[in-house]
Amino acid sequence: SSLRIKEMYDLKICNACIIIFYAFTFSNMFSSCIFISLLQTDLLREGEVPVPYPTKFKDAWDDLSVKMPCSEKNLFPMETEDGNGVQSRWDLIRTALQRGFKSCLDVRDAILRYNTAHAKKWDFTALNLLCTECLEHCEVQQLFDTVLPAMVDLALKAPRLCTMPIPLLKSRMNQSLTLSQEQIACLLANAFFCTFPRRNSRKSEYGNYPEINFYRLFEGPSPRKIEKLKTLLCYFRRVTQTTPKGLVTFTRQTLNNPPDWESSQTQLTRLHITCEGTIEEHGYGMLQVDFANRFVGGGVTGHGLVQEEIRFLINPELIISRLFTEALEYNECLIITGAEQYSKYSGYAESYKWVGIHKDETPRDDWQRRCTEIVAIDALKYRHFLEQFLPEKMTRELNKAYCGFHRNNANRKHLSAVATGNWGCGAFGGDTRLKALIQFMAAAEAGRDVAYFTFGDAQLMKDVHEMHAFLTESRVTVGQLYDLLNQYFNEVCKNCHTTRPDVSLYRFIYETVSSPAASDTLNTAKDSG
Ligand code: AR6
Repeated sequence: SSLRIKEMYDLKICNACIIIFYAFTFSNMFSSCIFISLLQTDLLREGEVPVPYPTKFKDAWDDLSVKMPCSEKNLFPMETEDGNGVQSRWDLIRTALQRGFKSCLDVRDAILRYNTAHAKKWDFTALNLLCTECLEHCEVQQLFDTVLPAMVDLALKAPRLCTMPIPLLKSRMNQSLTLSQEQIACLLANAFFCTFPRRNSRKSEYGNYPEINFYRLFEGPSPRKIEKLKTLLCYFRRVTQTTPKGLVTFTRQTLNNPPDWESSQTQLTRLHITCEGTIEEHGYGMLQVDFANRFVGGGVTGHGLVQEEIRFLINPELIISRLFTEALEYNECLIITGAEQYSKYSGYAESYKWVGIHKDETPRDDWQRRCTEIVAIDALKYRHFLEQFLPEKMTRELNKAYCGFHRNNANRKHLSAVATGNWGCGAFGGDTRLKALIQFMAAAEAGRDVAYFTFGDAQLMKDVHEMHAFLTESRVTVGQLYDLLNQYFNEVCKNCHTTRPDVSLYRFIYETVSSPAASDTLNTAKDSG
């Protein structure tokens, strides 16, 4: 890497005290933002577990809130003579979970007792394999004697811990929701035991929300599931041993008036690029990008195990966003502040392994949130390479990245760098070299530096570093680069009959910018700038 440590530190533009950085009104580009906290924030004390707000459970069973398992309206059909009887599903859940578990079959039976409609379909092979073949005897004992009973207690505390209806973060809503880590642990324990009503079918009213109940994690013999379960059980073991005392904020942000890319005079910001390390490991103090699915968390509760899913597994508080975040629209992102890392891992996808506990020592802000800011932005998925150079697709990606990076009320000087990498270029099939430029443009427009992790790709690091240096040296503005991308589409991609263009994007940019005609234009811009 041609980069120096000093640059890395400069780039951090210290974000150590995030404090409450979202102001109450997002003007211009973002509509007004509503703030909701499920806690008494005036009673927050360092080192003490936050107090839920309000003190008594307030039930809501409507289109605006999460339907809670402990709601009075959560009813379960009962066999009666006339066939119309119902009983409290929460009572059923309580009875089923409190019977205790001696083996994973008891866990299965308990879960199926209040999910009878799925008894034939749901499969618990992974949970079974974990308990019978993958864990040491003492680990199994600890699981059944300590961890699972404590998880049951935690789940059943829902009416005491999550007293306020949890608002759904719906499409086009600029809304921010703060929960305590304890509330999140309680909700996740409910997700583990699959207690959330109306969430087991894509056809239900929550069809446009990610899955939250964990039933798919238990399914099938894949070693992936075993490692995922180990990672999540490590989280549950830790939060049931010691209650975490902080908060986590989830903010849905919509971009209504995107920048006019064509006329932007903004210069690119600074870049740190390396082929070593990862966003989560080396992005300390920066805005860390989650290469998301529009259903945040993607396949975390299913089979998926790439960047987003891994991040959600090692920082499981992120998973709770799936309970209330409707699928992201083309101009939206989700910002999560304060999620803690509980596990270490090795490998990736098929080779992913849970390695052990991670002690997160990230400082906390005034709201007792870990100073870790993660932004979920979903790229477009491409099946054909050329598709991504269509101007409307490039603009969509620019706006999506900008939505994630921009902070309306923040002083630009104090914005941290964006820690990112091959966003949209793995499972989603995008081109790394194009996506790097798109992210540089969005970051520049948002006033942030970039730390780019190429995830082991040394050639990519070299190419992107050289291109960035060339563009900066030539004083190419964001608007000019936007124009160059469009020219590339018109002159190279539009009439291309092969799957890949003959001229690469970077060669095209080098040649066009260095041509006498272009250098005149650029020089004019340089002189006037
Ligand atoms: N740090 C830096 N770079 C990474 C890291 C990391 N920790 N992990 C992976 N990469 P991918 P996408 C690099 O495929 O294409 C999920 O299912 C690595 O080069 O996760 O945007 C989501 O839920 C990798 O190939 O992101 C979506 O459904 C590249 O980043 C979908 O995948 C892209 O990682 C998103 O796919």
